[in-house]
Amino acid sequence: MIAEKTGRSAEILSGKKFAKAIKEEVAREVSKLKEDHGISPCLVVVRVGADSASEVYVKSKVKTAEELGIISEHRHLPEDISQEDLLSIVGELNARDEVDGILVQLPLPKGIDEKLVLEKIDPSKDVDGFHPINVGRLSQGQEALTPCTPAGILDMLKRKGIDILGQNAVVVGRSNIVGKPMAMLLLQEHATVTICHSRTKDLAAVCREADILVAAVGVSGIITADHIKEGATVIDVGMNRLEDVEEAKGFFGEDELEKRLSTIEKRGSTLVGDVNARAAKEKAGFFTPVPGGVGLLTVAMLMKNTIKAAKMRRLGNVSE
Ligand code: GUN
Repeated sequence: MIAEKTGRSAEILSGKKFAKAIKEEVAREVSKLKEDHGISPCLVVVRVGADSASEVYVKSKVKTAEELGIISEHRHLPEDISQEDLLSIVGELNARDEVDGILVQLPLPKGIDEKLVLEKIDPSKDVDGFHPINVGRLSQGQEALTPCTPAGILDMLKRKGIDILGQNAVVVGRSNIVGKPMAMLLLQEHATVTICHSRTKDLAAVCREADILVAAVGVSGIITADHIKEGATVIDVGMNRLEDVEEAKGFFGEDELEKRLSTIEKRGSTLVGDVNARAAKEKAGFFTPVPGGVGLLTVAMLMKNTIKAAKMRRLGNVSE
């Protein structure tokens, strides 16, 4: 099928390419830590119960760690573990000196207080950056372990040389995992930051002011052509399933529609983000698609955070 002619087309930012660059740097740092200081960084990933998405994510985290020479341990705990027992396992990991990073995969089963578990993790080993101490340090501009997805997005913007200082950045979504830390990181880079959410009046008008637009709400296609300023950098963090064929026809340009329709036919749905892909490709300057965009950066940044945690805790700095 011949691609539909459009006036202009955004440059696609490939998460795979940026993730590869980050992982290569981490692998080099792992060797250096071992050679110069005799340190072998170690990451422990805790998974509770049988959530199938968590299983996929955790396997990818453990596999990537191994590929980069990071020692990794996967603790798979039963669905019916008590909160007390889980807290005591986290306490044991905190006490093990050879463990540099602890990640408890979310969501946790019903009946376990996520907040209590996350607060139990030693902040110096909190490679997710979810502990209130790290959230506070980030908001005060101090050295901190920061959440992997927004940290990966910032890393990508910098590698690409996209201007942040003085630019209007709009973050759609106020989650603790992406929206809020993304806003803080962009603010630290001197962007003028606006956070939008479900109660924002005239979302499109606010988004149209954005030089950098980050969408992280989990609503497929909420960002349309009406929300995008010509030439803006559009970062799509959404992960949604689109099942409706008619909706898909409005979502994709001729360049990918056929493939997407065939995926819906075969598997019942296709993975999409929060941004209407056709609109972004036509109006944005840079665009991270779903899949193939920022999702791949998250695991790479987890590895970078593990090295950062090892350096901060064992050497007292991150520049070594
Ligand atoms: N579940 C979905 N995303 C994440 C994440 O970034 N960290 C953890 N711990 N759990 C998750």
